[in-house]
Amino acid sequence: MAHVVTLHPSGHQFEVEEGETILEAALRSGLAVSYQCTNGSCGDCRARILEGKLGEQLHHDYVFKGNDRLYPMLLMCRARPASDMLIETAEAQGIGDIPEQHIAATVYNMEYADGRVMVLHLRTPRSQTLRFLAGQHVRLGIEGIGQCSKSIASCPCNGRELQFIFRKIPGDDFSEYVFQQLKKRDAVQIDGPFGEYLLEQHSEGPIVFLCYDTGFAAVKSLVEHLISLDVPATLRLHWYVLEDTAPLENHCRVWRNVLDDFDFRILRGSTSTPEAAETATALVNSVSEQMDILADADIFITCSEGMFADIGRELAANGVHPGRMFPVLLT
Ligand code: FES
Repeated sequence: MAHVVTLHPSGHQFEVEEGETILEAALRSGLAVSYQCTNGSCGDCRARILEGKLGEQLHHDYVFKGNDRLYPMLLMCRARPASDMLIETAEAQGIGDIPEQHIAATVYNMEYADGRVMVLHLRTPRSQTLRFLAGQHVRLGIEGIGQCSKSIASCPCNGRELQFIFRKIPGDDFSEYVFQQLKKRDAVQIDGPFGEYLLEQHSEGPIVFLCYDTGFAAVKSLVEHLISLDVPATLRLHWYVLEDTAPLENHCRVWRNVLDDFDFRILRGSTSTPEAAETATALVNSVSEQMDILADADIFITCSEGMFADIGRELAANGVHPGRMFPVLLT
């Protein structure tokens, strides 16, 4: 039987299904609760029981210390409720609440969208999940090859299985290594997360994503996060793709089915290296046909710095206030 857990002081509520831990249910619901190891050893997910009955508690090595011994406490990653509960715990309010983490992950899948675009799936050790907020990026490192910054393309509700979208860039050592030599079970170091949490700045209005190429990674993370939060929102995506990326485009079709008010447009480049200004104009022309939504929308723009300047200028000329444009710069 499912029980409702309420977090204090935020008032966030979620249902914990039979057999689930409180942490699993909180993450599935898109909440940014504090946690790290998921196996009862770090103590980061501890919470004070204010009301309700604690059910089964899985084994844990963590020992409550100091003031925590004065109150009834639980570890969310080890506890199942036996009734509806009210618990007090820390939730990240913004990027300042998420520490920089250093995790040795491994490759567990490489999924080609076409010969030049790949979704790299990394898995962290069971005792070290990555805490991050949707739209953030990390530094990936491969020994002997170097490092590169990448937007996380998966939902923060699963910090163990992470996705990144790579485009093959001739002459770029990291990208060439990823496409030609990286294989399953290879080690990849993750450092981060870095970058803003865009939804923190989001008002109640619609969200319009203007996305260039693999900037889709941040969009995917943000949309999946919104789905897990179950927040009703009007979402529009205008995505400029360089070539056929059909498997990635399928995500958009799925979102159109599961979300109440999501739609997308794919714009295809005529060459594989279009000018930034040409791309900016194509994206702004596309979104300008939806002026009804644009009027009070937050516009999240995932592209290079130069292209953001071009898009910003053109949007401003169309009457969009610069304070409503938020960049997620391609790394
Ligand atoms: S004790 Fe580490 S996440 Fe629960």
